Amino acid sequence: MESNQSIGYMNVPVPKDTDLIQEIDRMRKEKNAIILAHYYQTGDIQDIADFVGDSLALAQWAAKTTADIIVLCGVHFMGETAKILCPDKKVLVPDLNAGCSLADSCPAPDFAEFVSRHPDHTVISYVNTTAAVKAVTDVVVTSTNARQIVESFPPDTKIIFGPDRNLGNYINSITGRDMVLWNGACHVHEQFSLEKILELKTQYPEAEVITHPECKQPIIEVSDFVGSTAALLKHTITSDKQQFIVATESGVIHEMQKQSPDKLFIPAPPNDSTCACNECVFMRLNTMEKLYNCLKFELPEIHVDEEVQKKAIKPIQRMLEISAELGL
Ligand code: 13P
Ligand code: SF4
Repeated sequence: MESNQSIGYMNVPVPKDTDLIQEIDRMRKEKNAIILAHYYQTGDIQDIADFVGDSLALAQWAAKTTADIIVLCGVHFMGETAKILCPDKKVLVPDLNAGCSLADSCPAPDFAEFVSRHPDHTVISYVNTTAAVKAVTDVVVTSTNARQIVESFPPDTKIIFGPDRNLGNYINSITGRDMVLWNGACHVHEQFSLEKILELKTQYPEAEVITHPECKQPIIEVSDFVGSTAALLKHTITSDKQQFIVATESGVIHEMQKQSPDKLFIPAPPNDSTCACNECVFMRLNTMEKLYNCLKFELPEIHVDEEVQKKAIKPIQRMLEISAELGL
């Protein structure tokens, strides 16, 4: 856990009249830092990043960068994954409070106990987990490669899949497997309203519903296309359709709109319209001001216990190797 002093740097007031874009750019060059951003970050952070991608792409970039400092504009587990892959580099996350409800739904001691109750099972974990969960995992997956990695095991392989029950159910349904699932979920992707999506479909009859597999089954069933964040983005670029109802965190619409300025993107609404649950509150904790402070003070830094790091790197590297073989 980071010290309070370290966390305190995040909110140091940025001097008035600071040109954030210019200063962030200057500091990243001076310090040989790379800024990696997830598609669920705000548009300004995506625009200044050296690279924007989904969870798999961020891990792939972290694994190959020659920068001295990695600033991971995403959530804690993404910074941890980068640190596990690059233990000798400084890995920073603009706001250390940027957690993940899905990773939180899988406490490491409980998961280790679950694994011990299924001794003859291969353990496949979604990247949205803590380092300690990865340390008891055989192979990590992301939503981009989960299907292919599950299918790379012989059909009779007994598999534990965690922590996302929706992604696990979806992979079971498309592969015919019967993986044992951990009962976790993401609060953002579980919040989409079937009723409101159906209303939007009536309002925009030409629109395709495109959905992330962390969503619940009824939403997946009314969808025209299901895929990871990167797959959804690619689909909007290659599809002949002009309108899309987007059932994932709405940050990705920034890049969708940039890539296809003439197409219409409609964010799918959450159940509770009084809250903006289709925005991940954790992802949105990162701001340009915190990114500026993060580069200036080189804090807050991600640390991973050495023993945990040595165990957790193996299933991540296995994922990267399989993904490379599959051309992902
Ligand atoms: P991907 O980046 O794999 O699409 O996962 C979505 C997500 O919820 C990340 O936190
Ligand atoms: Fe976690 Fe969901 Fe936020 Fe992704 S969108 S970081 S899975 S809470």
